[in-house]
Amino acid sequence: MNLQDRNNMESYFYFKDEEREVCFKRHDTPTPWINYLTNGTFHTILSQAGGGLAFYRSPQIWRISRYRFFHLPTDRPGPYIYIRDGALGEYWSPAYEPVEKKLDSWSSAHGMGYTRFQAAKDGVNSELTYFVGELENSLIWNLKIKNNSSKTKQLSIFAYVEFGMMEFMRELQWQCYNKHQVSVEYLEEWGSLVYKYGVEMQPKPDETPLVYFTADRIPDGFDGDREEFVGSYRSEANPNAIEQGSCSNSTLAGGDPCGALQFNISLDPGEEQTLNIFLGTGMTEEDIRKSIENSRRDTFVEESFIKLKENWESYLGKLQCTLPDKETERMVNTWNPYQAQRNFLFSRNISFYATGTFRGVGFRDTSQDILSQIPFDINASKDKIKLLLGQQYKDGHVNHYFFPTEGWEPVTTIHSDDHLWPVWSVWSVVMESGDLSFLDEKVTYYDGGEAAIYEHLQKALEYTKSHLGPNGFPLMLRSDWNDQLFRVCRKGKGESIWTSMQYGVMLTKMAELARLMGKIEDAAAFMSTFQQQKELVNSIAWDGKWFRRAVMDDGRFLGTDEHDQAKIWLNAQTWAVMSQMADKDKSFAAMNSVKEMLDTELGIKKIHPSITDFPDPKDPLTNYNPGTGENGAVFCHANTWAIIAECLLGRGDIAYKYYRQLIPEIAMKKAGVWRYKAEPYVYASNLFGPESDRFGLANVSWLSGTAAWMYIAVTQYMLGIRSQWEGLLIDPCLPVQWKQAKIDRKFRECNYEIEIINESGVKKGIMSIEVDGEIQTSNIIKHKNGRERAVVKVIMG
Ligand code: GLC
Repeated sequence: MNLQDRNNMESYFYFKDEEREVCFKRHDTPTPWINYLTNGTFHTILSQAGGGLAFYRSPQIWRISRYRFFHLPTDRPGPYIYIRDGALGEYWSPAYEPVEKKLDSWSSAHGMGYTRFQAAKDGVNSELTYFVGELENSLIWNLKIKNNSSKTKQLSIFAYVEFGMMEFMRELQWQCYNKHQVSVEYLEEWGSLVYKYGVEMQPKPDETPLVYFTADRIPDGFDGDREEFVGSYRSEANPNAIEQGSCSNSTLAGGDPCGALQFNISLDPGEEQTLNIFLGTGMTEEDIRKSIENSRRDTFVEESFIKLKENWESYLGKLQCTLPDKETERMVNTWNPYQAQRNFLFSRNISFYATGTFRGVGFRDTSQDILSQIPFDINASKDKIKLLLGQQYKDGHVNHYFFPTEGWEPVTTIHSDDHLWPVWSVWSVVMESGDLSFLDEKVTYYDGGEAAIYEHLQKALEYTKSHLGPNGFPLMLRSDWNDQLFRVCRKGKGESIWTSMQYGVMLTKMAELARLMGKIEDAAAFMSTFQQQKELVNSIAWDGKWFRRAVMDDGRFLGTDEHDQAKIWLNAQTWAVMSQMADKDKSFAAMNSVKEMLDTELGIKKIHPSITDFPDPKDPLTNYNPGTGENGAVFCHANTWAIIAECLLGRGDIAYKYYRQLIPEIAMKKAGVWRYKAEPYVYASNLFGPESDRFGLANVSWLSGTAAWMYIAVTQYMLGIRSQWEGLLIDPCLPVQWKQAKIDRKFRECNYEIEIINESGVKKGIMSIEVDGEIQTSNIIKHKNGRERAVVKVIMG
């Protein structure tokens, strides 16, 4: 393939917005472009070429099928279908992979919770849709197969999964013996393979399910022994059983398991048949029997699919917009909230990049993920907050990450920022619901005893207050938001200026909660601490043109013009503004420095210049190559805060530039498909920066704080719709070329139909607001109980 060809974006994909789908025209994308299919319990990751894996609840301990991540051949295996034409002796895969036989036509698409493939070869057309429904814990493979030729076709359809050992780390470490504790049986009566993971010393044997692999009909053959199905020195691309045309009906009591089912079908010219395959779980054989019976009902698959569609429409229906810019509109309406929801579910656990081995639930990450989900699912958000607060100790600090499903010991390193994040999430719950009672709900501390949520938050703030460094800023501890900073604060003396700003945000929000609860003294105390930190930020942290980032153990500043590396750090500028700590002139100056020194055409770098040997060539702050990862890359998560900061400063054009340049399809177009590489429909965690020779390479897509914060930046700050105690605040900050925007936002059981008109092309500022024809005096639309619909007309000016 020549270079031009592999960079031609149109040859890869397009969006079908009415269907909320991204459609693929070729399977050979630069990296696997994946989707998550899940009902919250049974999960599958699936790529545009059919690779991927299934797991039940936890990819650490209940991984059902095997996936080899970045090893070559990439993106294998997956839940595969093979179609074999008896007369021709030829076989192919509707997903293109793994057989890779040239097809007469092929396409695939990811939608909300499903992935589908269309493929045709030698007169046979297949349409294959994978999804996880809510009626059973199973991956449903719905295959429609049609004979478009003039001759009767004798076909064998094979469905195949490679079972792994459920505990992925154990598999890597000690499969040699442990694999003889797994089995695959064939249960004749139900026509189902059943995989049993019986390994001793697994963490939760009583919660470990059996896995079934069956269909809506009794198969004509099966295999449970991978070696029998695949054969020696072969792979999933050319299994022996398929080449020979039949399975050998193997079962397995110890060894390398798989699930393979064979169905022989005869198709007359023009005839179409449907075959549904189910890969699912049940706790007992009886459960499995019931589940299979239910799945074989005539309407089961259709019902499950309709429900899936309806659920997503109702979910996304909480906020939909019509905007002058289709790429922004597409992100806001569909892909960004979809990605954010997946982050909420999976934290940073498993993707094509994250192997699902150790990350569990990250305290910091999940606290932020919750923020975007509050308008969509407030109850699930509250539950997640309570889960997090259950990891807090009585002194206020928290576990860094933890494993509620696996039951493993948490990671207990103490970071300066972790415990502060829930203040924002709880504050948002209160603002969204207009209800203070959540603050009174009791949650137990990790080290025993219980307290109201308000008290948990208070403890968090107290912890920071009692861990200040020599300059009065919060001690860095193990790190702040930036995981790398421990390297200049190992001795425990270093301070985080950024955490001071984060602390500032949380103090203000807590003061508001305290006032609403009538705790006036608490509110005053929070604000007085805020003032102290604010003074430090404006004096000690100010470097002349920007804010410094941290104080290192040796007392020197990080992020100052005095050094030749890492002079300026993005977060210290954006949060100075977000916290309202920075004096006005300093706010503008700091954000101007961001624009001048950090912004690129592919996003804003996290630091400048990148580090090579700073502060000590023998012990540099980071070993990341310049321009990559935490060192001078465009860290998308941190870019979102620049958008928010610019909106707070009223500079809609700059905010929009920052927003738009990271829309994945826009960034991909600019960088080139083979430079950008990751999915064009979801955000990546970072892009290599200009100091790398692969500037624009996107990394760690899907699971990133970028998803939640980008959504907050665009909906709450650019479109400017924020929930407040009294009602909905309308405070747009738009690019001047946008003359109009329409947003439907569901808020406290009322549908707000908001139309923003900006004929005069201002970046911020409102001339008038009408609600149901009545002129408002404030830009907060007071919530009225019982109102189900409000028509809001906003004239900017
Ligand atoms: C990664 C981590 C996140 C951290 C960020 C910056 O995205 O998941 O917790 O804040 O890197 O270091």
